[in-house]
Amino acid sequence: MERRLYAGRDVKRAHGIDDLRAMARQRLPNFCFEYVEGGSEDEATLRRNRDVFRELAFLPRTLVNVEKRNQSVTLFGERSAAPFMIGPTGYSGLMFREGDVKMASAAAAAGIPFVLSNVSTVALEDVVRRAGGRIWMQVYMYRTRESLAKLAQRSEAAGIEALVVTTDSAVFGKREWDLRNYVEPLKLDWRNKFDVLRHPRWMANVLWPSGMPRFANLGDLLPPGQNSVKGATITLGQQLDPSLSWDDIRWLRDLWPHRLIVKACSARPMHSKRCVRVSTALCCRITAAGNSTERSRRWMYCPRSSSRQAAGCA
Ligand SMILES: Cc1cc2nc3c(=O)[nH]c(=O)nc-3n(C[C@H](O)[C@H](O)[C@H](O)COP(=O)(O)O)c2cc1C
Repeated sequence: MERRLYAGRDVKRAHGIDDLRAMARQRLPNFCFEYVEGGSEDEATLRRNRDVFRELAFLPRTLVNVEKRNQSVTLFGERSAAPFMIGPTGYSGLMFREGDVKMASAAAAAGIPFVLSNVSTVALEDVVRRAGGRIWMQVYMYRTRESLAKLAQRSEAAGIEALVVTTDSAVFGKREWDLRNYVEPLKLDWRNKFDVLRHPRWMANVLWPSGMPRFANLGDLLPPGQNSVKGATITLGQQLDPSLSWDDIRWLRDLWPHRLIVKACSARPMHSKRCVRVSTALCCRITAAGNSTERSRRWMYCPRSSSRQAAGCA
């Protein structure tokens, strides 16, 4: 009999990421699936990232009592049940209604941190209130810095533990597979429009009753009435600030008195040291998905012990 991944609806029957991927393929319209699946340009970075993970191996030790296992670690000064976190993914509300709350709740149940993307469709206050657990807020440095200052204030008032500033998106990545679904910006081609109609369950879950989900954490960054995930995309692309530099990290450091994590900084050891020097900002080598930058090398390995200690990882 032919081997087959599970692609049904019962998440309990998914035994691995490949099953979950197959389920998503079935459930989502192509343009949504492609947003999650695709990398930028010819996807070389995406492939290389996967290859590096595939090559990593554990050195197994047998004949040791493993009845009680513990994989908890100290992550940025706090105990975490496992050396993982759920990284920020924007537009999650387009995949599943209130997807951000679902992911944050799953992270809380697993005892690991959840990083809420600033391009999320549930207000950060709601995510904190409804999910509990350790929640970090991811931000981009938009040209309109005041909106970031307001977001920092909101995050502090809501009890967000850390700000995570993403540094690999100073310009918008070119996701060619994504672009192929559109005849012009925001206008799906007829094949994709037809494909949306073939997914009534997704339409009922995501679009009913109010249409496209709306961004809930961007405040007045978007013009009034233009906060739907469809209408806002062009404005957001224009808001990304290519002049982003270490000065901005210092600015944010002064503004935000709690943990500040610099995400996806470049692959040079000197940069992580500099992060730590810039008034105790922490450098977090979360790999980039290869969805903004192409043909660039990303951090794939744990920092060496000296920078691990400096960054509060143990
Ligand atoms: C669909 C999708 C959306 C993402 N959205 C964001 C985002 O809003 N902000 C951000 O900093 N990173 C974003 N990322 C990057 C991820 O946070 C993460 O760095 C990347 O996926 C690498 O981790 P992985 O190897 O576990 O996928 C996104 C990635 C994907 C695949």
